[in-house]
Amino acid sequence: MALETDFIVIGSGVAGLRASIELAKSGARVTVLTKDKASESNTEYAQGGVAVVLSDDDNAELHEEDTLFAGAGLCDEKAVETLVTEGTKYIQELIEWGTEFDREGGNLVFTQEAAHSRRRILHAHGDSTGKEITRALIARARQEKTILLMPFANTESLIVENERCVGVQFLDPILKAPREVFAKAVILCTGGAGQLFLHTTNPTVATGDGMAMAYFACAEMADMEFVQFHPTALNLEKAPRFLLSEAMRGEGGILRNTYGERFMSRYDEKLELAPRDVVSRSIVTEIRRTGTRTVFLDMTAMSEDFLRNRFPKIYETCKYFGLNIAKDLLPVSPASHYIMGGVRTDLHGRTTVSGLYAAGEVACTGVHGANRLASNSLLEGLVFGARAGEAAVLDNSRFLIPNSKSENTQSKSRIWNQESGIATAVKKRVKRVMWERVGILRDKDSLKRALREFEQISQANLGTSSRNFVTLAKLIATVALWREESRGGHFRTDFPERNDEKWRAHSIQKFNTEISASDKINFESKT
Ligand code: FAD
Ligand code: SIN
Repeated sequence: MALETDFIVIGSGVAGLRASIELAKSGARVTVLTKDKASESNTEYAQGGVAVVLSDDDNAELHEEDTLFAGAGLCDEKAVETLVTEGTKYIQELIEWGTEFDREGGNLVFTQEAAHSRRRILHAHGDSTGKEITRALIARARQEKTILLMPFANTESLIVENERCVGVQFLDPILKAPREVFAKAVILCTGGAGQLFLHTTNPTVATGDGMAMAYFACAEMADMEFVQFHPTALNLEKAPRFLLSEAMRGEGGILRNTYGERFMSRYDEKLELAPRDVVSRSIVTEIRRTGTRTVFLDMTAMSEDFLRNRFPKIYETCKYFGLNIAKDLLPVSPASHYIMGGVRTDLHGRTTVSGLYAAGEVACTGVHGANRLASNSLLEGLVFGARAGEAAVLDNSRFLIPNSKSENTQSKSRIWNQESGIATAVKKRVKRVMWERVGILRDKDSLKRALREFEQISQANLGTSSRNFVTLAKLIATVALWREESRGGHFRTDFPERNDEKWRAHSIQKFNTEISASDKINFESKT
């Protein structure tokens, strides 16, 4: 039997939890569907911290300037202004809700990360900022009687009726069968798509499902070619690509090549604190130049006591893999980390489909442009999660939940397409192709070959989740081929320069429609 609620939120990371709390303020019933346990998300693993204007020597203009600079000419200025000015209020609220950011003598402490002109990054338990924020938000959400958290409820398609999103189809974890839930509106907070690439810092839930679902529901997608590769993921054969936070370089960590040379001076005057895309490409170049498979992060100038206290999670994880971060050189290489593009939204989370909202990493508000400034995304989840929740209540108060038995109601994949046995093999292949041909360095030939391979894979009888996965890979490769320049998280070796005259525009993709260029992300909403 179909279910009914006032609002559906898909995802329980920072954006989904913050949106749910906002929706519940109106007394509405909120159903939060989430793929794994409620705490499993990119948010949970966030290390470095959250950027916010709170220290005495900082102000919103400086944070805005740094964000715009990192965004390489493609940020939406209004979105950035909203982020940095409203961000402070939401962090203060988070503190009131019990989040314990690190302090010294009672005062908040701030760390440094790349491309920030001030120490403005708050952190918690050293390097477990995301875990602490998740803990506090889940506790706060649980105080709201109208929020129903449904873990292990994998959602794979949106239900669209008369061009309006009215619900979702998910796999009921108890019935072990597909089920529908109808609502006044749906808020997508499904996070990023790091898992599309062979090497990633992201947990397994980050497969970009929400982006694919929105695309099939005919929502516009923006800037999908811009993918951020984090420079320093642990590179050990038998270990996952565990993140070694940028804050380690912020505290003085140095990058060395296989000969022990500090090499960043060859590539950028800001050395280890150059923007992420620059550091990642420098590492790839250095690895190729020296004919090796890795470079090293050197923290040995700092005391073991300091490092154990400042980075307890990293210290313990490296120890588990046989490395002492105070004594050993740590093998690192880049891994996919964050996607700047996503479902196009206005400043209130409205997508181009009525009844469908998006916030957090799944969305593209234009706040990150072509390259996200470190530690801006937890803040984004709070600010735009709350805004999307608020708008969804205001826009839909008079909308009646559709009759779930209505014959008009049609999902793009209403018949649940069972996953076939080849799903794992398909995803593995896609991840390898994305890494090798659509990764840090791209060119026309590699992208065309990737697309040919994705086309072939798409011919197979795929289940819904594999189809979503390949579709998203195709979207990224197609638009990466389209953009014939290099900017932020998109680097073409055959077009290595940034070309503002021709390409200072956002890419817009829509189901069954040619790619178009738009000078802004924000749009006039129909709602
Ligand atoms: P997420 O936190 O990823 O949540 C997505 C949710 O959607 C999850 O609950 C997931 O289960 C659910 N979901 C996904 N698909 C489905 C589906 N089909 N059905 C149902 N549910 C679904 N950013 C910073 O600002 N500072 C940092 O220090 C920082 N460190 C990071 C460290 C790591 C290792 C990683 C991976 C990222 C880091 N980031 C950091 C980025 C940041 O964590 C994310 O961009 C941000 O947390 C995204 O929040 P979100 O709410 O949009 O998505
Ligand atoms: C990190 O700690 O290096 C990750 C920060 C981020 O992705 O914003």
